[in-house]
Amino acid sequence: MSQALRVGIAGLGTVGASVIRLLDRQSQALAARSGRSITVTGVSARDRSRERGVDVAGIDWFDDPVSLARSDKIDLFVELIGGDEGPARASIEAALASGKSVVTANKALLAKHGMSLARLAEEKNVALAFEASVAGGIPIVKTLREGLAGNSIERVYGSLNGTCNYILSRMELEGLSFKDCLADAQRLGYAEADPTFDIGGFDTAHKLAILTSLAFGTAIDAEAVHVEGIESITLADLKSADELGYRIKLLGVAQRTAGGIEQRVHPTMVPKSSAIAQVMGVTNAVTIDADAVKELTLVGPGAGGDATASAVVADIADIAKGIRSAPFGLPVSALEAAARIPVQRHEGGYYIRLTVHDRPGAAAAIATRMAERHISLESIMQRNPPARRGAPPSDKPVPVVLITYATSEGTIRQALEAVLADGYIAEKPQVIRIERE
Ligand code: HSE
Repeated sequence: MSQALRVGIAGLGTVGASVIRLLDRQSQALAARSGRSITVTGVSARDRSRERGVDVAGIDWFDDPVSLARSDKIDLFVELIGGDEGPARASIEAALASGKSVVTANKALLAKHGMSLARLAEEKNVALAFEASVAGGIPIVKTLREGLAGNSIERVYGSLNGTCNYILSRMELEGLSFKDCLADAQRLGYAEADPTFDIGGFDTAHKLAILTSLAFGTAIDAEAVHVEGIESITLADLKSADELGYRIKLLGVAQRTAGGIEQRVHPTMVPKSSAIAQVMGVTNAVTIDADAVKELTLVGPGAGGDATASAVVADIADIAKGIRSAPFGLPVSALEAAARIPVQRHEGGYYIRLTVHDRPGAAAAIATRMAERHISLESIMQRNPPARRGAPPSDKPVPVVLITYATSEGTIRQALEAVLADGYIAEKPQVIRIERE
């Protein structure tokens, strides 16, 4: 058997502790599969005295992760600190610069600095591996980079944030408020330290930026991702979606279009029959449309210590075996610049919830403004409680929900401005994009 692979781990939170436990529990199987044993020889974390449920007594302790990254007592550096700058970036750069392979779960850092880090890894002929950065335990990086190498990919879309899926699922199934569901997600440890990263769609955008590069051979460009969060989704939207045969999910979508690869994160209506609609709670799902394989959906745990550690350990095992792929599937110089496509150019179906003054002519005016712009309606729904006999017509605003066939976002926004100008609308319209199978 070859020499042991000596691993240094920086960051001993839930994931770091789980990685140490998993490497220990699977040490024999990993050694057999890799042809060498894997040993943790150095660790670094902020607080040495914290109880973590793992014994690090026999492992060299480094107060500074950069010193661990440079130490000649390790061959491979595992970064589980988090954050898109600071010690995470400094220690990864130090490890790569000193010729060590790196494994990281840090999606925010990769979304911002993935290209420069991949370039550095290439220059030094070492690996930069990040399976755990997207969708936790789902092996989506390997699937896109290696498993689907014989395909041309048309679209990748996923429910990539467990916190959002948990909130939307509980709101839909239990009729609970957004605020209560978020508080539960935080209590259960699903949410990021700052939950606006989750509910504002930024965590999904970081993950999507990585998937787009792997799927389409483009340079990571997180600024090119159009981002909307789930804060505006109401119980009324979830109920209407249900009645119309849809579910609402926060999706990250990367899609080949005539103008380039569109990248967007937003609440999305998906048909209830679609695979992604079945995935409830904290679980993640990713669907890939590709020419040879057609449609492929991967479902699994997107967060949590053991699930994320499973992905980290898979990368460590690859490096132990000597497997070193170009981090984003191609040399950095061969990655194309990502297109920046304004969301106004997006084409698809739309759900529109209007709050309408219930007067004669309101429905006709809405339909006219849509027809003037060649927007075709798939369905239109107005549900008022039945009026009592003899009661005068009420002027209380009522919800009117429209589903359109495919049109452009610019056209929808123009039509809604015209509807607003007609004076029948009492509140800002709710607009949710539809993603079809
Ligand atoms: N906060 C993330 C989520 C954790 O809710 O999915 C994994 O990135």
